[in-house]
Amino acid sequence: MRDRSVRTLGSLLFLAAVSPLGAATPAQPASSGGGKYMPAKSCGACHDAMFKTWSGSAHARSVTSSAYLETLRRTIEQAQDKKAAREACVWCHAPTTILTGDLDLQQPLSREGITCDFCHTVAAVNLERVPPFDLKPGPVKRGPFEYTQV
Ligand code: HEC
Ligand code: HEC
Ligand code: HEC
Repeated sequence: MRDRSVRTLGSLLFLAAVSPLGAATPAQPASSGGGKYMPAKSCGACHDAMFKTWSGSAHARSVTSSAYLETLRRTIEQAQDKKAAREACVWCHAPTTILTGDLDLQQPLSREGITCDFCHTVAAVNLERVPPFDLKPGPVKRGPFEYTQV
C-alpha cells in the first residue's frame, strides 16, 4: 500500500461529526480499540455524488431488501445453531456488525448494510481468517488503491 492510498481527514470528519447531519446517527464504539463507524449520510455531506450512487445501489439495501429478510428468516428457522446462522448472513450483508456485535440490526448504522465507512476503513485482508478483515474505523479513510487502476 502506497502513501497516497491513505488520507487522514481528522479535522474534516470532526466538522462533519458536530454538524447536524453527522450527529443524526450515533455509531457504536468499535471493539478494535479504534474509532467509530460513521453513517453514510455524514460522508454524503462532502461526497454528494458518491452518496447518491450508493443510496440507489444493492449495497445500501443488502440487509433490508425483502428478498434478503425472507431468506434470512427461513435460514434461521431451519438452522440448529441459530446464532451461527445469523452471523454467517449478517457479517456479509451488514459487515459493520463484525465489530459492533449488533446482529439484530437495532442500530441505524447496521441497517445501512454495505456502507461507505465499512469499505473505506478496511486496513488489510487475510483470507486465512473468518471474517478476513482487519477493521480500523476512524478518521483515516482508505482507497483507491493503485492495484485497482488499469
Ligand atoms: C468534511 C468533508 C468530508 C467528509 C465528511 C468526508 N470526506 Fe472523504 N474526502 C474529503 C476530501 C476533501 C477529500 C480529498 C479529495 C481528494 O484528494 O481529491 C476526501 C477524500 C476521500 C477519499 C480518497 C479519495 C481519493 O480519490 O483519493 C475517500 C476514500 C473518502 N474521502 C471517503 C470518505 C468516507 C467513507 C467518508 C465518510 C465516513 C468521508 N470520506 C467523509 C472530504 C470529506
Ligand atoms: C463495497 C465497498 C464500498 C462502498 C460501500 C463504498 N465504497 Fe467508495 N470506493 C470503494 C473502492 C474499492 C474504491 C476505489 C475504486 C478504484 O480504485 O477504482 C472507492 C472509491 C471511492 C472514492 C474515490 C474515488 C472517486 O471516484 O472519488 C471516494 C471519495 C469514495 N469511494 C467514497 C465513498 C462514499 C462516500 C461511499 C458511501 C456513500 C462509498 N465510497 C461506498 C469501495 C466502496
Ligand atoms: C460471503 C458473503 C455472503 C454471505 C455469507 C451471505 N451472502 Fe447473501 N449475498 C452476498 C452477495 C455478494 C450478494 C449479491 C450477489 C449478486 O447480486 O450477484 C448476496 C445476495 C443475497 C440475496 C439476494 C439479494 C436481493 O435482494 O436480491 C439474498 C436473498 C441473500 N444474499 C441472502 C443471504 C442469506 C440469508 C445468507 C445467510 C444464510 C447470506 N445471504 C449469506 C454475500 C453473502
